[in-house]
Amino acid sequence: MAANKSILFLPGDGIGPEAMTQVRRVIEWMGRERSVSFDLDEDLVGGAAIDAHGVPLADATMEKALNVDAVLLGAVGGPKWDDLPFEKKPERGLLRLRKEMELYANLRPALCFEALVSASSLKPEIVSGLDIMIVRELTGGVYFGEPRGIEELPDGQRRGINTQVYTTNEIRRVGDVAFDLARKRSGHVTSSEKANVMESGVLWRQEITKLHQEKHSDIKLDHMYADNAGMQLVRNPKQFDVIVTDNLFGDMLSDVAAMLTGSLGMLPSASLGDVDANGRRKALYEPVHGSAPDIAGQDKANPLATLLSYAMALRYTFDLAEEADLVEQAVQNVLDSGIRTPDIMAEGTKAVSTSAMGDAVLAELDRLN
Ligand code: NAI
Ligand code: MG
Repeated sequence: MAANKSILFLPGDGIGPEAMTQVRRVIEWMGRERSVSFDLDEDLVGGAAIDAHGVPLADATMEKALNVDAVLLGAVGGPKWDDLPFEKKPERGLLRLRKEMELYANLRPALCFEALVSASSLKPEIVSGLDIMIVRELTGGVYFGEPRGIEELPDGQRRGINTQVYTTNEIRRVGDVAFDLARKRSGHVTSSEKANVMESGVLWRQEITKLHQEKHSDIKLDHMYADNAGMQLVRNPKQFDVIVTDNLFGDMLSDVAAMLTGSLGMLPSASLGDVDANGRRKALYEPVHGSAPDIAGQDKANPLATLLSYAMALRYTFDLAEEADLVEQAVQNVLDSGIRTPDIMAEGTKAVSTSAMGDAVLAELDRLN
């Protein structure tokens, strides 16, 4: 494989390409000013791919995604493709990527920028300086477990069934991701389940404990019941570094954590899979938000969620912590100076366009470097 660092851009639809244009500028800056260069490739996904090839993700694009270090995706979907049958919708492109790359660990950081503390639903002192990461198991658990369905009972009632299922392998591989991440952060993992009432939770706790002893004893590990974790996230979120949990609890806890920091336009994410023979962990980075058709094409989108997704790639795929810090610091300083896209406006701040936000980040990078 190529020894260079490789990234595949999939800008997608709506505001995806607009945000991605600003990220590209930062990547070019990295090459120029920090000698951090990437082999860049770009392809189509979602509605853009449907328009060009009739499918939301071409086989050739899938092949490329499987052979790069990191995929950086914008967003997919929009009203133009809403009437297509489910199997042909833009969103299927993203689902195919996640499935064929086997991305079983979904990472959602909650990083609180000082200037946006007032956008949080919590008191400033509770969220100020917050930097935590939720690792949600994404391909197992109750959303996929068998048996499932709705059945008729002899007495005329109906019964709905879903089953929480986890194997030791599924638990261990997501546990590995969480411990590896913690090693690049503050070295603390909290594993969360309901071992008090669920056998799958008992197994989860046993396997995480074993894995910790075998491979990750340098990391501090605690266990916390998931209901308590929900409570602690709004009471004292700064006690956490990495939280690792199952698909269902992770779905809820990551949405709670997201609201600690405010706006959709600021939230990055990553999905990680297995380490391959070249020692490379499959990785897809993308903002949490969608294609925002209501503001697409108006130069209004907040590009920071996508830019922060790239910063996550720097930190977790490329081991470039300094560069990741630099990008996050530049974002922080730009926000501090009162420059905002419309979605994060507050009193006394100045609304700027997507491209002007990109300009501001680049100017700040120049100043910091
Ligand atoms: P959305 O996230 O696209 O938009 C929700 C609201 O937040 C809109 O008012 C939008 O203008 C605003 N918003 C989102 N991101 C923003 C940003 N970066 N800057 C400023 N404002 C922003 O969710 P919605 O409206 O439910 O879905 C729109 C389309 O996106 C649909 O086709 C949906 O299927 C797709 N979608 C795609 C996702 C993905 O690609 N991962 C995730 C969620 C939705
Ligand atoms: Mg959710």
